[in-house]
Amino acid sequence: MVSRVRRHAAFLLVVVASAVALGLTLSAQSGVQAAVNAAFSRYQNLHEGKNADYIPALAKVDPNLFGIAVVTGDGRVYAAGDTRTEVSIQSISKVFTMARVIQDQGPESIEKRIGVDATGMRFNSIVSVEFAKKSLGGPEINPLVNPGAITATSMVQGNTSDEVWAKIIGTHNDFAGRQLSILQDVYKSESDTNQRNQAIGMLMYAYEYIKSNPAQATDLYTRQCSIGVNARDLAMMAATLAFGGRNPITGKQAISTDNVPYVLAVMATAGLYDDSGKWLYHTGLPAKSGVGGGIIAVSPGNFGIAVVSPPLDDAGNSIRAQKAIRDISNALNGNPYAATGRRATAN
Ligand code: DON
Repeated sequence: MVSRVRRHAAFLLVVVASAVALGLTLSAQSGVQAAVNAAFSRYQNLHEGKNADYIPALAKVDPNLFGIAVVTGDGRVYAAGDTRTEVSIQSISKVFTMARVIQDQGPESIEKRIGVDATGMRFNSIVSVEFAKKSLGGPEINPLVNPGAITATSMVQGNTSDEVWAKIIGTHNDFAGRQLSILQDVYKSESDTNQRNQAIGMLMYAYEYIKSNPAQATDLYTRQCSIGVNARDLAMMAATLAFGGRNPITGKQAISTDNVPYVLAVMATAGLYDDSGKWLYHTGLPAKSGVGGGIIAVSPGNFGIAVVSPPLDDAGNSIRAQKAIRDISNALNGNPYAATGRRATAN
């Protein structure tokens, strides 16, 4: 009789504990969705900034497009707005090509050939290269500005342009967890108007950052910038970085866990160009923007987030994306520098 009572009590305890755990999980989930919804309604009617137009196809993208997605470690996607329409990934691709080079050739390859320092100048600055070369004596830029990014693309190995491309798109696919493809109108539009990047490619070759075939490097770079992604893809790519390089849905290791901190460090240093310091000051989040209107941000071990909204500020960063990510991250305690309760352990 006593043991039956005990069994019942134990059963009841398990039921209550499970209900509490489920309740906590559900309330955490509704907390994430509530933060996403709140940011969406707060900024839905904000129409500051302007689409990039130096690439003519970008000027034609609907400036009202606004989508937010957050992906957590269990692969759950919390979304608001239009998270299905694709925009070109643009500079956000620089993160993943850099990741590929780090994965294949080690973190020192990027550090020695390109550098990992902020330039404090615009993303397509030629002066930054001149300054690094003449005054600093070498690799003092980074793979997230155009000269460093075209160089990183040139470092991906392959016997033909197609072989190199297969590696670049394959890496983007692994991070996104699906097969991505190029937006041909953007690729054509940028190829027709990218004389400045062609010049940058040549300059990087003249200064021996790029070892061969600068025209191919610039073309492949242009192609990678034209990859079509939506807010969900970008959030999944960010989440893959947030969870040790492993895609939370497919389970595929896109890059090894050991290499993730190098990628995040460059994003923290230079992800929002000359506004990177300001961004880090307010969010603490490694992030990357693109002139297509996307921004990704990573809260390590916590979540990946992305927003797509084409109108940009003067530095070339999406205005609504910056605001929405900042608010959502604050609501979810995303700032890694604000972490409490972590202790160093020796093993
Ligand atoms: O090379 C360019 O100018 C573009 N394909 C990418 C620039 C970019 O996204 C800068 N982003 N903020």
